[in-house]
Amino acid sequence: MSDFAIARVRSSPSLALIKYWGKKPGSRNLPATTSIALTLAGLDTRSELRALAPGAPDLVRLGGAEQPPERFAPFFDEARRLFKTDISFSVSSENSFPSSAGLASSSSGFAALALGCAGLAGLPAGPRRDALASEAARLGSASAARALYGGFTLLPSGAKKAEALYGAEYWPELRILVALTSAAPKGDSSRGAMERTRLSSPYYRAWINDSKTLSREALIALAARDQERLGELMRLSYLRMHASAMAADPPALYWLPASMAVIRACAALRARGIGAWETMDAGPQVKILCMASDMDAIRSALLEAWPSLGLLETRAGPAPDIVVSEAAGQP
Ligand code: PMV
Repeated sequence: MSDFAIARVRSSPSLALIKYWGKKPGSRNLPATTSIALTLAGLDTRSELRALAPGAPDLVRLGGAEQPPERFAPFFDEARRLFKTDISFSVSSENSFPSSAGLASSSSGFAALALGCAGLAGLPAGPRRDALASEAARLGSASAARALYGGFTLLPSGAKKAEALYGAEYWPELRILVALTSAAPKGDSSRGAMERTRLSSPYYRAWINDSKTLSREALIALAARDQERLGELMRLSYLRMHASAMAADPPALYWLPASMAVIRACAALRARGIGAWETMDAGPQVKILCMASDMDAIRSALLEAWPSLGLLETRAGPAPDIVVSEAAGQP
């Protein structure tokens, strides 16, 4: 590939149904728990990458703002090693949804970056490129390893890369309703908060041990497309993850009053026999797993509980796509 090649990539965030929270100590971003996720349709990161001459500084712009190089250095070093290239990269990335607000923008961002670098390094499309890109993306953000695949994905504890479990069409009635409680960027990054949890939460060990059972049982529930069982396990996973994080010193507390109102509205919906199973990540947004046929009832109940909520309907979506071309007219 020439120095003036361009890769354009679209990717979407990975929402964990069973959470990753904590890294294997002393490892290079290896997850300490198994996570099971789905890649969301319609929330897009669009990145344009240019290959630069070897030795040039790598450059990343997100929504027009230049990013601190040290956040990206481990990723670029690993990408060059895995993709067997010495080129540098200039990247410009935009999200169609709020960044750093608990909507997993780092997962779609690093997935796009990894796939774009692999394309510019000249790796041919196929399972090997996806696996290497998943491994490189993990260095940026472990959840990004999953976002290299569409549909339902698995990132086992201690694994270098994610695996595809089922395609986006596996469970056609399944929807995710995102309840946007705030668009403000979070103050406490998942990276810092999970490390603090590992180092200082008395509940961290219990979280790690317990998550083995949750992920094993969730794989069975997903294989059976059993919404109620999967929902129960999802709920335990996020509540136990947050319980361990809230017990860190200093605590990691992401919930807002609106998050709590949505959690309680979901419980009230379930008491009426409507399957609304919520989960939360490192931010105040609440994501609800439900069936398409229940969507209208769930929307009305949530808006009644908290009228200013933003609601965004999504579902399992495709793997990232990439187009690599020569930059016409460039020096
Ligand atoms: O991939 P990171 O370092 O941004 O951490 C993501 C952690 C959670 O979103 C809270 C859970 C997950 O498995 O995605």
